[in-house]
Parts: sequence; C-alpha cells; structure tokens
Amino acid sequence: MLRDLLFTDVRCSLAARRAALLYHITMPHASAQEWNSSRYAQNARFVSDLGQPVLDLLNPQQGERILDLGCGDGALTEKVVAAGADVLGVDASLDMIAAAKKRGLNAQIADGYSLGFNSEFDAVLSNAALHWMKRDPDAVIRGVARALRSGGRFVGEMGGFGNVAAITVALCATLQQFGIENPATLMPWYFPSVDEYRARLERAGFQLEYIELIPRPTALPTGMRGWLETFAIPFTKSLPPEKRSRFLDEVTEKLRPALCDNHGQWIADYVRLRFLSRKGI
Ligand code: BEZ
Repeated sequence: MLRDLLFTDVRCSLAARRAALLYHITMPHASAQEWNSSRYAQNARFVSDLGQPVLDLLNPQQGERILDLGCGDGALTEKVVAAGADVLGVDASLDMIAAAKKRGLNAQIADGYSLGFNSEFDAVLSNAALHWMKRDPDAVIRGVARALRSGGRFVGEMGGFGNVAAITVALCATLQQFGIENPATLMPWYFPSVDEYRARLERAGFQLEYIELIPRPTALPTGMRGWLETFAIPFTKSLPPEKRSRFLDEVTEKLRPALCDNHGQWIADYVRLRFLSRKGI
C-alpha cells in the first residue's frame, strides 16, 4: 500500500515535471516581458519618481533636442520637456507610447537595437530601460552614438551588477521547484558592472565623464507581489496559468525574511548604474 502510494507520488511528480517542461518548450515567446501602462502606473510609479538624480546629471537646457530612450509612459520625459528641451520619447511598447502621447508628449515606437536617427540629438537620456535590452547592448549603444551629434551626451541609469540579486535567486529557485530546468536562462535583464559598461561605451566612441554603481534599497509601494506582477513576467509566463499565483506566493514567502521589514514594508535590493558620457568629436 505504502509502496503503491510512493510510486503514484513519483509518477505524479515526473508527470508534473514533464508537463512543465513541455509547456516551457512549446509556449511561444515565453521569455517576453509584457508592458501594461495601468499596471505600471499602479505598481511602478516610483521608477520615474526616483529619476531626479539622472535628470540632474542630464541637466537639460532650453531648446536642446533630446531623445528619451525607453520613455515608458512619459512621466520622466515630461520633466525634461518642463526644463525647456525639445524631447522625443521612444519605446518598444505600443501601450506605453499611447500613455506617453496622452500626456501630450512627442513619442513614437522604436526598437532600441536598431535606432534610426542620425546626428540629430544634443543628448540621449535613458532611465530604467537599458537593462531590458539584454540581447545586444552594443547595438543599442551604437544606435545612441549614431543618433547624437559630435560632443552630444549619453546619460543613463539602469540596473547594475548585483541588482535584485535576492529576488532573482528566489525566482530561479522557485521555478526549479516547479520543474523548470535552467531557469536562469529566463532572466530578461542585463545588469553590467562599471568596468563592463565603460568598456562598451568606450568601444563605441564615448568618453566617460562619470560612471558609478549605487546600491539603492527601494521601497515597493504595492509590495513584492505588485513588483513581481509588473517586472517578473518572463519568469511567471514559463508556467501554465493555473500555477502562476502559487508560484508568486512562494517567491514572496522566500523573500519575506530578507526584504520585508518589521512594519511590513517591502524594500527591493536595487543597485543602479548611473553614467554620463560624451560622443567623441
Ligand atoms: C526596472 O525596470 O525598473 C527594473 C527591472 C528589473 C529589476 C529592477 C528594476
């Protein structure tokens, strides 16, 4: 009897693993992040709210022509416009571009890997977007270089090396428990070190005036669950829909001892990479 039960258990868990693997293999575009401007506004408004340091670094001037790469819903772009600059926002998400246009911004859809601008901007700004362009960071940087006039500035802030390390470990460990093999391959983010990103910028002809890795523990207004539902979609989507909620619960519980304080406030382990570079003359 016990033997039968044990065999049933092993068979079930093998079947579950096989089903999970099959779902993982056959699910189209399982790794793609999805953007929804209302969900972003609810769970991630802090991203643009915390954009003041990179804006200060950009120091936009009246009449300057500035490209905002990965403008999202335009909340930060608006502040550059308010400084008197002539700004074009670009983003890969149609929904985000629609939200940016609703703010009255000049915004258009664009693929960050193949920017089609030529020597037409005084500066390119990018906040919290470059880490989503993992496939070919050099292509992104080359496109920025082409878009700038000689001496133009490329100013950015992105996740840096070690960003959301605890969250990433919890996501991967939990996916493994759910039968997903090699879950690290689902990681959609590129979080470079100072040395790595400096080398990429210099190879593309930029001179670095400032680059720094900045640990920035970040309070999450809608908790870990809200963060995971907004940013961890490539991990969650690797599971069939009926398992996703339990998966998110288990990731959250793994993280609670490390990232939730005694008052119930969730604080994510953010590390930012901030830089100011100039296209060589
Ligand atoms: C962001 O887009 O702001 C982000 C994405 C992944 C980890 C941390 C931040």
